[in-house]
Amino acid sequence: MFPRVAPKATTHRVSLLLFMVIVGMGPVLPRGTLLGQETIRPLEPSAHPIHLRVQFKNDPAREAVVSWSTTIPGTDHVIHFDTVPRGREVGAYAMQSRDIHSGSWTLLSEEDAAGMDAWYHHAHLSGLEPATRYYLTVETDGQTLGEYHFITGPADGRPLALLSGGDSRVGDIRTQPDNPRRRMNARMAMLLDEHPHIVALAHTADYTNRAYWSQLYYWLNDHFEMTTTREGRLLPIIPTRGNHDLDVGLDEMFWWPDRATDFYYTTRLGPDVAVVVLNTEISLGGDQRDWLESQLLTLRPQVRWLKVMMHKPAYPSVRAMETGEPRRRAWVPLFEEFGVDFVAVGHDHSLKRTAPILENRVDPRGIVYVGDGGLGVRPREVATDRWYINEGGMSLSTDNVHLIEFESDRMRYRAFGMGGELLDELEIPHDRAARAAHYEAMLGVAAGR
Ligand SMILES: [Fe+2]
Ligand SMILES: [Fe+2]
Repeated sequence: MFPRVAPKATTHRVSLLLFMVIVGMGPVLPRGTLLGQETIRPLEPSAHPIHLRVQFKNDPAREAVVSWSTTIPGTDHVIHFDTVPRGREVGAYAMQSRDIHSGSWTLLSEEDAAGMDAWYHHAHLSGLEPATRYYLTVETDGQTLGEYHFITGPADGRPLALLSGGDSRVGDIRTQPDNPRRRMNARMAMLLDEHPHIVALAHTADYTNRAYWSQLYYWLNDHFEMTTTREGRLLPIIPTRGNHDLDVGLDEMFWWPDRATDFYYTTRLGPDVAVVVLNTEISLGGDQRDWLESQLLTLRPQVRWLKVMMHKPAYPSVRAMETGEPRRRAWVPLFEEFGVDFVAVGHDHSLKRTAPILENRVDPRGIVYVGDGGLGVRPREVATDRWYINEGGMSLSTDNVHLIEFESDRMRYRAFGMGGELLDELEIPHDRAARAAHYEAMLGVAAGR
């Protein structure tokens, strides 16, 4: 039932997949419905770089991973980069790196049989300058992609923003040029143009139905082709892992040299902002909970804004209340104890903003949770019986992407639809008394007081 691993996969990949079969990880679907045969296409063998992208992890001011793919293994992989544009003149860039982490994408047997062989290439750049535009071109065996650029995160307290959203899996319609994922990506490029202080897309996961090449291939195409601005600015990704991302392809897509933990880590954005990324797909207790507690303990006195990002919600907008219980039990008490400012989630496929919640009740001193994923997946009908929605929150069955702006005295949350329409907004004052008063007034309006 579980797809056979392609013969060219390395031993550790085979054993990882066997492990996943044994422990029953990942949705096992009947063959044929797994990938959609029309989406498994042979790829022309070429050294031409595709799928250029940037990943941020702990320190976007000074570190990034720049990645691309090719459909032959290639022998000579180089990234050329500089703080001034150099066009296609690879010899003109001030900096280059040949320290590239390359490997073959793990293929399912049907992908292998169709001739979808491809290779990933990851360049870890460190010692970068903060808030700086890096122009780059990537090269495999003399073939380059042209010049693009990304901007590193700030190291000072200037206002900054994140795009936030998740659930970009579109299934068999992924080959259609106007599918909803591509349209949401185009919206993100427009937002990036309009709000140049956006540092990255904080993706709350579920990129594809399964993390295998014939699906990731289209996701990566769509990200590069549609989120890149007209002037060639790349939208870096801060990833997390969801229940549709358990296969090995996600580790091949979002490689990082030092991966001590499985997709839980903290991204620091200057002195004032920290985003704690959690993995809802592994044990919520044990090491991850200990790590979360120590992170919150360390970070809370240091930063003005403490945001949490994770895939599955604690307060779901579509699924039954009980489905959020594991997060409510394991993590929400820590969020509340350490005064997390804001939580972004995915998984339920809707637009959601809860009322402020404290100890499982609406409370103006509480935490607002937003979600629940709408970057192209088909939106689901929202539940109508949720106290945290009905008493001062909102939910809507629609595609959505969030713009979250961090300033010194306030955070501003806005949700946009596919056409750029403003669907929801919230201001979060930094001062706790002002915030409670603001939330109190908001709850009063919702209650008709
Ligand atoms: Fe999902
Ligand atoms: Fe999910």
